[in-house]
Amino acid sequence: MAAELRGVVAMDGPGGTGKTTVARRLANRLGAGYLDTGAMYRAITLAALRAGADVAAADAVTTVAKAADVEVGTDPDAPVALLDGDDVGAEIRGDVVTSAVSAVAAVPAVRELLVGQQRDIIDRVLAEVGGIVVEGRDIGTVVAPDARLKIFLTASAEVRAARRLAQDSAAGRESNHGDVLRSVDRRDRLDSTRAADPMRPAADAVEFDTTDVGVDDVVASLCELAEQRGILAGRGATP
Ligand code: DC
Repeated sequence: MAAELRGVVAMDGPGGTGKTTVARRLANRLGAGYLDTGAMYRAITLAALRAGADVAAADAVTTVAKAADVEVGTDPDAPVALLDGDDVGAEIRGDVVTSAVSAVAAVPAVRELLVGQQRDIIDRVLAEVGGIVVEGRDIGTVVAPDARLKIFLTASAEVRAARRLAQDSAAGRESNHGDVLRSVDRRDRLDSTRAADPMRPAADAVEFDTTDVGVDDVVASLCELAEQRGILAGRGATP
């Protein structure tokens, strides 16, 4: 029997640090669920844009957020994102949403709403499969402060921009290194300086620099950490 995750792994850090790839692979390897909280902020942003709301207007964005039906899948192999029943997985990762999402994620009432939904999803997945890897910016600090393992991934801005560029190119989106680097920097600044739940490592988070480390090695190190924390069931040893 393979080792299985018991409890929550919180995976925070800025964009381009490998969070999504690492979180999905870790969840898959440990038979756990997976939650991409960024996809929820992105779906609300798309809803605001579709409604023609000014994303800088907190009240308008809050009204849209309360009315929107956002559903994100928790299967690490198929993390779908639905907005009012439409599959918006590709659209929410395009430039238009990416440029606007930090403003929406800074609205306290939107955060309150989504944090509540995220906690409900986490409770449901824990009851169903026993373990979940949750990625975002405030998972270890706000959404799941009791998580058994908290990881904060980092990487140099250059490497993060290069990874974003590769993702854009794989998805058929046109971009260039300078623009992506500026956009990565801007989003970090907005996400880490906002008043409501700013991005920061929890006091008990393990910081992991992925600049020169491949995904497989990061995942292997996290599995070791999980084992040391005693949050793996099953074989009880190396997953
Ligand atoms: O991880 P991502 O790039 O898909 O996140 C999109 C945006 O949402 C990002 O600018 C920060 C914000 N976000 C947040 O504020 N809190 C989270 N838990 C997840 C994402």
